[in-house]
Amino acid sequence: MCGIVGYVGPRDATPIVLGGLKRLEYRGYDSAGIAVLQDGGFEIRRDAGKLSKLLSTVNDDPIKGHLGIGHTRWATHGEPNTRNAHPHIGATGDVVVVHNGIVENYKELKEELLAEGAEFNSDTDSEIIVHLIERYLSSENDLLQAVRKALSHLKGHHGVVIGSKHEPDKIVAARIGNAGGVVLGFGEGEMFIASDLPAILEHTREVVYLESHQLAVVTKDSAAVYDLDGNKLEIRTETVPWDPIAAEKGEYRHFMQKEIHEQIRSITDTINGRVDFANGRISLPKLNLTKEFANKIEKIIITACGTAAYAAMVGKIIIEKIARIPVEVDVASEFRYRDPIITENTVVLSISQSGETADTLAAMAEGKRLGATLWTIVNVMGSQAMRISDGHILMQTGPEIGVASTKAYTAPLVDQYMLAILLADLRDEIDEKTRKQYVNELRSLPNLVSQVLSRETEYERIARKLVDVNNSIYLGRGVNMPTAYEGALKLKEISYIHAEAYPGGEMKHGPIALFDQDMQVIVIAPKDPWYDKMVSQVEQTKARNAPVLVIATDGDEQIPELADEVMWIPDVFWMLSPVIAVIPLQILAYHIASIRGLDVDQPRNLAKSVTVE
Ligand code: M6R
Repeated sequence: MCGIVGYVGPRDATPIVLGGLKRLEYRGYDSAGIAVLQDGGFEIRRDAGKLSKLLSTVNDDPIKGHLGIGHTRWATHGEPNTRNAHPHIGATGDVVVVHNGIVENYKELKEELLAEGAEFNSDTDSEIIVHLIERYLSSENDLLQAVRKALSHLKGHHGVVIGSKHEPDKIVAARIGNAGGVVLGFGEGEMFIASDLPAILEHTREVVYLESHQLAVVTKDSAAVYDLDGNKLEIRTETVPWDPIAAEKGEYRHFMQKEIHEQIRSITDTINGRVDFANGRISLPKLNLTKEFANKIEKIIITACGTAAYAAMVGKIIIEKIARIPVEVDVASEFRYRDPIITENTVVLSISQSGETADTLAAMAEGKRLGATLWTIVNVMGSQAMRISDGHILMQTGPEIGVASTKAYTAPLVDQYMLAILLADLRDEIDEKTRKQYVNELRSLPNLVSQVLSRETEYERIARKLVDVNNSIYLGRGVNMPTAYEGALKLKEISYIHAEAYPGGEMKHGPIALFDQDMQVIVIAPKDPWYDKMVSQVEQTKARNAPVLVIATDGDEQIPELADEVMWIPDVFWMLSPVIAVIPLQILAYHIASIRGLDVDQPRNLAKSVTVE
């Protein structure tokens, strides 16, 4: 969950490392630190709180050198205070370490190290690693070998970056398991290391991703990768197509607002190149899907977490409807601990923005172990989810920085719709006319996204009215039931307002007891096959005096008669209506949080990629 940056080269490492951390602050933001090799020793600056505190500390007390490592933390072990911030330095002052992950056996290791005389300066599990490296450095005199031996003691998943003053031209990095990535960036006579691409994209696009159980030794003009046994491995650089400008806020106040607006582009890019409108056909080549395999599929299990799991719930309805394949949706953290029924003709499809979510990766591994074919819909190129899959659909959203996911929710809705059409086509489940009609519905989607976004001012007016709400319930049915879940998640994540969501039909089975004038009810009632049911839900809500806001389709004459407020959306084909209906809810949550003066992009207690269990 933490962000890591390293630099070695002719330039001053401090601004490069701090600039990289700025781009990774979304990963963790309860403390930050930097270590720079200056005049033959490590100078460290650390601070609790946001990166801005560290920036002013470094400003007041500068450090300068040609090798540096930095870290932005999301606390797991030990309070988020300065003492527990990374980098950690050993007793000798020779070695500094930044770490992403959890040392699962840290208690045993700590006891062992304490018995050997080690003195601990933090409450973190990560500090173990420094002491272990120091233990081996005293006998090995070689940083790589000492790191290799130290890592062999650790249980759990780790991304680690290490510097030693005795090897002042080197940084050693390692990845074990799925605690987030480790990427090496190749510059001209300089090298970069990061847990995530945005940290280094402004400097280079030539990268190598470390696989699990690999170590790298990086100098300003070389990088060598080894397995944990010390065998040197061949590496090949990849060129990243992302534009670093896409990771800037531009004219927007927050990344979340920018990303909400980027949905015109992301939906356009999602469709472009994959849809043949003339012939009514879909192509998803990276899925490696043959007609033969499509016809063998007996079941699809979609597994994901959070927002991505809500996208999966929409996918279930659409894939079952169009392709007539049974689909289960499994929250990844649950899937990994039950005993799922999987055959060789089962597909486990994960959805993940980051492609690094620990629970999702573990669910995929479980699917693989049981013999399923693994597919993923993923945003981050080169992520672990992409690399372990048999086939993938790359979300075309570009980097998503805001912790509250927006464009990485709508893109996979469209991806799953296209997947459903492709599967139906390959399995002869769809006639040509219907297939062409479904494909054609995609044509107008970017324009509909643009229309709904142009209504932001009106949605903001409603947000101002709801800004003091304390409790809310979102209701939806059918294909827009997940829209209710996602709308409620957005509100609670960034505004800290209590928000629950229910399938509309469940209301009368309990939640209706909560309805009174203090319970804000938000009903998703576009013109879809469940519309009439939702109208009756609005009526029942009004009968209990609860204030009701409805998402309704332009031209609807019933809803304005019943609702206190309406957020209008353009008419859209029902299977694609979740893409459009969620946008006013994203905007509502965004403006409520922003008016409340909250930190929209970095809400409390959250991190962008949850790389721990
Ligand atoms: O990177 P992933 O899509 O795998 O992340 C899954 C969830 O952690 C993520 O969607 C989370 O729920 C977001 N904060 C939602 O806004």
